[in-house]
Amino acid sequence: MASPAPGPAYRVVTPRLVIRCWQPVDAPLLKAAIDSSIEHLRPWMPWAENEPTDLDAKIALLRHWRGQFDLGQDFVYGIFSSDEAEVLGGTGLHTRLGPDAREIGYWVRSDRINQGIATETAAALTRVAFEIDRLDRVEIHCHADNVRSAAVPRKLGFTHEATLRRRKVAGKVRDTLVWTLLADEYAASTAARVPIAAFDVVGRCIFQDRLSLSVLEAGSDKSVGVSKS
Ligand SMILES: CC(C)(COP(=O)(O)OP(=O)(O)OC[C@H]1O[C@@H](n2cnc3c(N)ncnc32)[C@H](O)[C@@H]1OP(=O)(O)O)[C@@H](O)C(=O)NCCC(=O)NCCS
Repeated sequence: MASPAPGPAYRVVTPRLVIRCWQPVDAPLLKAAIDSSIEHLRPWMPWAENEPTDLDAKIALLRHWRGQFDLGQDFVYGIFSSDEAEVLGGTGLHTRLGPDAREIGYWVRSDRINQGIATETAAALTRVAFEIDRLDRVEIHCHADNVRSAAVPRKLGFTHEATLRRRKVAGKVRDTLVWTLLADEYAASTAARVPIAAFDVVGRCIFQDRLSLSVLEAGSDKSVGVSKS
């Protein structure tokens, strides 16, 4: 019998990023990232219509996401710089596709776009989905006119499987592209070549591949079970 999956991965370290479960103490950094990027996010992220919101609203949101993460209901992550001094964006391994699949979403703050951050993030979470969570399918959905977003799954070896025509999202009618990568396509994909290390809630390494020992050691003494302060 196969051993149980070792996740969830609370912290994922890549060569340039830390992608980890949000904590309420991240609220000021999240607010700074969103406040600097509202006009950039608004055309594509329905929640940005309601921004800016205050710090208490951010704390409540991060408590909600952290609770969902701990209960295995949904997996919303922050994208941080390696030293975790800056929030570069947000991402998630969303469970809305059912038990065998995850949908990856992402946004990157406006002053850090076109540096490959979304691509590195989506590759890392694709690896988590297949290597740690042992799922069968990963999807990325984006509007047909969101060329920056569509470039990400294309670069990672996902297949453009469908265009859902004239879907209404947040009051706007648009065509939605569905990109998929299946478990048996993963090994040959670009996503599988991105180095990562992944850690559980108490900081134990649960996966490490192609990442140098120094990066691994930097990540291994941190857990997301307790506040850093
Ligand atoms: C979409 C988004 C996440 C991309 O983040 P990013 O970190 O800049 O993405 P990357 O740098 O990894 O890749 C972006 C790609 O788009 C390409 N690109 C940028 N502007 C482009 C344009 N006008 N036309 C075509 N391609 C473009 C870049 O060249 C890059 O591809 P390359 O690496 O092959 O050169 C970011 O722009 C964003 O946050 N947008 C607002 C929120 C959003 O749309 N989220 C996705 C919802 S589905």
